[in-house]
Amino acid sequence: MKKVGFAIVGCGNIVANHLSGILGTPEAELIAVVDIVEAKAKAVAEKHKVKYYTDIKDMLRNKDVDVVTICLPSGIHMENSILAMEAGKHVISEKPLEVNLEKIDKMIEASKRTKKHLAGIFQSRFYESSLIIRKSIQDGKLGKLVLGDAYNKWYRSPEYYASAGWRATWDLDGGGALMNQAIHALDLLMFFMGEVEAVTAYCETIIHKIPVEDTAIAILKFKNGALGTIEATTSINPGEERKLEIHGSKGTIILNGFQDVTWKMVGQPEKKEGAAVAGGASDPLAVYHGGHLAQFKAFTRALLAGEVPPVPASEARKAVELILAIYKSSREKKEIRLPL
Ligand SMILES: NC(=O)c1ccc[n+]([C@@H]2O[C@H](COP(=O)([O-])OP(=O)(O)OC[C@H]3O[C@@H](n4cnc5c(N)ncnc54)[C@H](O)[C@@H]3O)[C@@H](O)[C@H]2O)c1
Repeated sequence: MKKVGFAIVGCGNIVANHLSGILGTPEAELIAVVDIVEAKAKAVAEKHKVKYYTDIKDMLRNKDVDVVTICLPSGIHMENSILAMEAGKHVISEKPLEVNLEKIDKMIEASKRTKKHLAGIFQSRFYESSLIIRKSIQDGKLGKLVLGDAYNKWYRSPEYYASAGWRATWDLDGGGALMNQAIHALDLLMFFMGEVEAVTAYCETIIHKIPVEDTAIAILKFKNGALGTIEATTSINPGEERKLEIHGSKGTIILNGFQDVTWKMVGQPEKKEGAAVAGGASDPLAVYHGGHLAQFKAFTRALLAGEVPPVPASEARKAVELILAIYKSSREKKEIRLPL
């Protein structure tokens, strides 16, 4: 059986996770990598004995490439994803899909026009703990949902912000602690709680010398009637593990870090399960590889089965829309209702 051929565009921080995903999927094969900085592309290509390019357009002529994965600064995901789809390739783009909804909608339009799949990376959805929590909630084990909270209180150093010119810029990063770091927690919160109806928020830049927010708080009203809060920062040092707390009329689930879950269900003894898994609380390179691997396996298997791969663009769009609503609320000092 011919394997699904992958090319990675962008050989920076997150490339290691995409390599783990592709190399760990038996039905997938790494064909090529691209980076405008030749030394970066060459280093990855030589290690894995694949072709390298410094221009995505040259790579897109390679017939062995079926899927392009986008690991570029967030504000150039659109142009590169559309080029790839127009060249007949499916696309998996890193989060956020793009920095505003106009650009995301152009990507979705291109996906429909070219009939090529466009998926967004949200690897936290693929952790076993996330899937069990979601199913328990859907099965009604928490009763009626009352509160859903996401805390993403991390640290990023001045050196991290200085490590690439696009970081913490509105045009290319799309925002700060929310759009870059906490976006996974927001996506997961909606994965568990459902969509948000309205937000009221404050976004501030308290510590870092950056034009985007390094700290934000939002109050949420979910469509199902539950309420919730989001707290996100990259300014507390050391960073805390990410935490999600889901409360219902029959119990509470606390997801601490990535896999560490506490269950407090009415009539049952408290239960803790899972293992501590390294996260990116203080170190941007400590992104757990298991989530990307699970998402790449699921993507490849769906493609081969002729199904829509998980986290289609329409799903990946939701977290960006919520973050943009939070920014708008903070800017305009009022409640913002969704959809925008
Ligand atoms: N899923 C996650 O947990 C996670 C973690 C980190 C980053 N990300 C996302 O991944 C993306 C990349 O982030 P990063 O931290 O790896 O960035 P980075 O700056 O470390 O890497 C980006 C790479 O793209 C290259 N590049 C820039 N313009 C290019 C172009 N036109 N053509 C080819 N190569 C080009 C750069 O030379 C660089 O090597 C961002 O969207 C970010 O939000 C996701």
